[in-house]
Amino acid sequence: MTAPRKVRKAVIPAAGLGTRFLPATKAVPKEMLPIVDVPTIQLVIDEAVRAGITDIIVVNGRHKAAIEDHFDHAYELEHTLRERGNGKLADEMAAIAKMARLHSVRQKQPLGLGHAVLCAREAVGGEAAAVLLGDDLVDNDRDPAIAQLARVYEETGAGAVMVMEVPAGKEHMYGIVAGDMVPAGNGAGRMRIREMVEKPKPGTAPSRWAIVGRYVLPPSIWGHLENTKPGAGGEIQLTDGLYELAKSSEGLYGVVVEGVRHDAGDKLGYLRANLAYALKRPALRDAVLELCREMLEAAGAK
Ligand code: G1P
Repeated sequence: MTAPRKVRKAVIPAAGLGTRFLPATKAVPKEMLPIVDVPTIQLVIDEAVRAGITDIIVVNGRHKAAIEDHFDHAYELEHTLRERGNGKLADEMAAIAKMARLHSVRQKQPLGLGHAVLCAREAVGGEAAAVLLGDDLVDNDRDPAIAQLARVYEETGAGAVMVMEVPAGKEHMYGIVAGDMVPAGNGAGRMRIREMVEKPKPGTAPSRWAIVGRYVLPPSIWGHLENTKPGAGGEIQLTDGLYELAKSSEGLYGVVVEGVRHDAGDKLGYLRANLAYALKRPALRDAVLELCREMLEAAGAK
C-alpha cells in the first residue's frame, strides 16, 4: 500500500533543556514560555492545524506533564470560569484541548535533533511528517509556513525545508544549504538542494541560505536518519540525515517561505516576537506603541 501524499502528522521536538532561558526553564519547559499570553508551542501547533495536520507527536524529555496538561481539558478551571460568568474564556480553554490529537514519545537521551525526530518514527508510521521547531515562529495568518512546504511535497513527492538568507557572519548558527533555484509556479521560490552543512565553521559556509525550523520529511528519511553518525557538536543532526536524502535520487527542496520569522529561542528574538505579536492585537496595539515611546524617552534614546 502506498502512503497518501498528504501531510497529516507533525513532529515537534520538545526535549531540550532550555538552557538559554534559565532560570525560567528550570521547572517549566521552554515550549510553554508565552508569547504575550499564549505558550510558544500552542502557536506552533496552531500553525500545523491550520495547515490541515491532525496528529501532533511531541518528542518529550523532562517536563512532559506541563505540555500534556495544557492540551488536555481543565474541567475545574472551565467550570469555575463559567460560574463566574466568563463563558467565552472557558470556551477558549476547551478549544485548546480539541486542537489536534496529541501523542507523546520520549527521547531518553539528548543525542541531537536528528535523534529526537527519529524517536517519532513509530508514531508517524509509513507516511510523510512535518517537523516544526518551537524556537522558530513563522507568522503568516493566511498561508501557514508548514502548508507552503506541504504543498511542495504533495506536488513533487520530495521533502522540503524552509530556507532563509541570513546575514554574512551568522552562517555558523544554522544548517546551511546550497543549490540551484528552480521556477516555482505558485509564488514561493524553490531550490534543488545540492549541499548541506550543519553549523559550518566561520568562513566555510557554501551560501547564506539557512534552514529555519520547518521541514516536511518523506518516509524515506528514516533510513537515512538511522545511519546518521554524530556530527556538529557531537550530536546526531537532522541536517546530516537530510543531506543523504538530498544526494539520493529523491532529492530535497529548499523553499523560501512567505511569512515573518522570529527566533524565539534567543532572548532578543523572544522579546521581539512578544512585541510583534502584541502589536497584532487590536486591544493592545496602541498601548504597546505608547509604552515603547515612553521607554525610549526614559532611556534617553533619540
Ligand atoms: C536547529 C537546526 C539547524 C537550523 C536551526 C534553526 O539548530 O539544527 O539546522 O538552522 O535549528 O531553525 P539549533 O538552533 O537548534 O541549534
